[in-house]
Amino acid sequence: MAPVAVTNDSTLVPTAKQVASSSAVEAAGDTAFVEASHPYQRRLKLTESNPNEPEVTFPLILKPTHASDLTTSQLVEAVKPLAPTPSSSYTLSPLQQLMDAHGGAVHFKSLPIRTADDFSRFMHALAGNASSPNTWQYHVDKGLMVIRHAMAPNVATANEGPPHQSIGSHNEYGLSTHYPSVIAFCCLSPPDTGGQTPIVNSIALYDRLKATVPTYVEKIQRRGLTFVIHHPVAKVKDSVQGNSLYNADSFGPTPDEKVDLDSLSEEQKRALVEEHILDLAREGGWGSPDDGQQGGKLGAWHERGFSWTWLPDGSINVFQRVPGIRIHPTLGKPAYFNNVGNRYSYSKEHGCLQPPHYSEVKKDFFPPPSFPLPLEDESGAEDEPIPLDEMEEALRWTEKLQAHVEWELGDVLVIDNLAVQHARTPWTGPRKLVASLWDQPSYLAKHAPVRT
Ligand SMILES: [Fe+2]
Repeated sequence: MAPVAVTNDSTLVPTAKQVASSSAVEAAGDTAFVEASHPYQRRLKLTESNPNEPEVTFPLILKPTHASDLTTSQLVEAVKPLAPTPSSSYTLSPLQQLMDAHGGAVHFKSLPIRTADDFSRFMHALAGNASSPNTWQYHVDKGLMVIRHAMAPNVATANEGPPHQSIGSHNEYGLSTHYPSVIAFCCLSPPDTGGQTPIVNSIALYDRLKATVPTYVEKIQRRGLTFVIHHPVAKVKDSVQGNSLYNADSFGPTPDEKVDLDSLSEEQKRALVEEHILDLAREGGWGSPDDGQQGGKLGAWHERGFSWTWLPDGSINVFQRVPGIRIHPTLGKPAYFNNVGNRYSYSKEHGCLQPPHYSEVKKDFFPPPSFPLPLEDESGAEDEPIPLDEMEEALRWTEKLQAHVEWELGDVLVIDNLAVQHARTPWTGPRKLVASLWDQPSYLAKHAPVRT
């Protein structure tokens, strides 16, 4: 197959069709990237109902030529032509074309990256070199439930939950209105066993679920999804959701607000948290009119917005209502964009599928997702349980379609978060993965909720 050029001056850019049939990506300088293969990859059709749609290889694996003597500086220069160009409106980048043609993920292997700073430089090169709506910006967390520690510019530890704990499938912050467009992981130390990152394409998941559990998919389209997130007062170690509700990256005062939390009364602290929760709901469109100009109606999630319950110990349960299915910005197809996979799995694993969804062992809440009810519903309830067999079927399809990415030292996995869910399997050994989250504002602006 012919190489696809991403030249020094970025003038020759591959189309998605060209990329799909290519085996190599020429980059800047003397370095090119060559397509490689690994047994963990999948061949799949995103939409099975279309007989003319070709299969894609998921994910794309790329290795640099001259890998044995490649320096980090040379690597950084080599990937720059893949980045988006500065623009006030959305334009397709070479990297996005590669992702679109391979199910939404690119796994770079045989790289000289050894530190968080190396990874940070690599990601900044992919981000584009100027601030504009079309280049990548740092993702700033809001309503964050997990604990992460900064390692380098826009690089932090991945979820610090314990090694024996698996993490179910999810789009990064697909349970919120505020989520990154791109996430990337880098392996600074591989595991001895396990520790794969299973990934699944959200468009394929929507396609299979629509065919096998249509009532579930149609209900998400009409209602959306409710995710109840428990935020403790103080940090909880060894938990996959132990972030303090008063942290700046959760619902506490942000650095810009310059508020001394200790100077506030309990009532004032709670008011500040509640305003931040409402801000998050507004970010997803709650409170804005749904005039139907785009055809169709938004779901009950849009009517309900977010709500919360303060608990006796001062912690809070936040009810986050989101669309659950969104249209992929460049491929124009519906995608199953949510966190049903990991929230259902936690709830099941901790024996919390039934009310009050509280684990005495973990001293924490693990409620499964639910359907928001329309405002005109007369039952008085805000949400309705999702039948467990429907979430079980979604889990079955997720596992059937997953590719289990295996890690070697220096590997980087770049994921289009709007197209791909990720997960984590347990491991033994010194596995160390770091993460980098980015927003491409022009791309996120095109990520429309599905309408009925
Ligand atoms: Fe994640």
